[in-house]
Amino acid sequence: QKRVGLVGWRGMVGSVLMQRMQDEGDFNQIEPIFFTTSQAGQAAPNFGKEAPALKDATDIEELKAMDIIITCQGGDYTNDVYPKLRASGWNGYWIDAASSLRMDDEAIIVLDPVNMNVIKDGLANGVKTFVGGNCTVSLMLMGLGGLFQNDVVEWMTSMTYQAASGGGARHMKELISQMGIIHGSVADDIASSAAILDIDRKVAETIRSDQMPLDNFGAPLAGSLIPWIDSKLDNGQSREEWKAVAETNKILGLDKNPIPIDGTCVRIGAMRCHSQAFTIKLKRDVPMDEINAMIAEANDWVKVIPNERDITAQELTPAKVTGTLSVPVGRLRKMNIGNEYLNAFSVGDQLLWGAAEPLRRMLTILMD
Ligand code: HSE
Repeated sequence: QKRVGLVGWRGMVGSVLMQRMQDEGDFNQIEPIFFTTSQAGQAAPNFGKEAPALKDATDIEELKAMDIIITCQGGDYTNDVYPKLRASGWNGYWIDAASSLRMDDEAIIVLDPVNMNVIKDGLANGVKTFVGGNCTVSLMLMGLGGLFQNDVVEWMTSMTYQAASGGGARHMKELISQMGIIHGSVADDIASSAAILDIDRKVAETIRSDQMPLDNFGAPLAGSLIPWIDSKLDNGQSREEWKAVAETNKILGLDKNPIPIDGTCVRIGAMRCHSQAFTIKLKRDVPMDEINAMIAEANDWVKVIPNERDITAQELTPAKVTGTLSVPVGRLRKMNIGNEYLNAFSVGDQLLWGAAEPLRRMLTILMD
């Protein structure tokens, strides 16, 4: 069995990855060796497979003994350790959740239901570095992959509704705390049937007050939204917005002839599902039944939701999708701008297909 070094397994994405690996029996296929940045020597976690005591995640000699390393430790760790490990002559497979190496020529962005051909070509050509994509990009491609496969997309905009989990575990807690503080400020008024505009004024005062914990988001999210994610680029885009075009085209292997994609990325008060509203300029007037079929047939997880109110409110929401691998796509209709303009909306769990799942699937591809 391949020796697989696991780094960053205790964090949020890492924990989701460990859970999925357990659920799918992946540990039966590997010899797991758990690394730590702070607790070397302590007992390894028990995911149903014996493992030696925790090893130091910065110890290049220990890392060099691995056939495969899979890390959810974050970009700083990758930036620190990966160059040293490669410089030491290590030629194993590096599978990474962090964005640091994504756009490197030596790395492939993995999303095998969409780009298995790119992954297979890479393996045949000796590529050893595989990186999970940005969550909105991976979820968009899991939903709309069929349209790209059929080469009907001329350009696209993606307006996102991104969950707190994209920021991290502390962000999720902060969102819930904010919600609780808002409710607490008016719970008695609601119970005593106070006038709504009085309740609303108190809520607004609370949201703007220093009672609101803002350490992580830097602004109130509960009862509000934040139309900026990640740093600013020179062209006025946020980095999150830039990733949509850069990563999508890299995943699809279209770097030389990229499909234009742009939009506005917005943080909203969902827990772990990213939603996106798309305007898709088609290359031709594709009939709706063909569009539905292209989308639905692309992979086992995408699910076309009929463009009807009740089923949309039931099925096409973070509340429904959270914690599942399902990627529903709905609100599918031609826009009144013209028959080559398609409207669509998707929802997906950003910790599963958006982060952990493509990594564990890359591991299993290496087991084949
Ligand atoms: N950058 C994403 C977000 C998460 O902030 O929602 C990681 O892909």
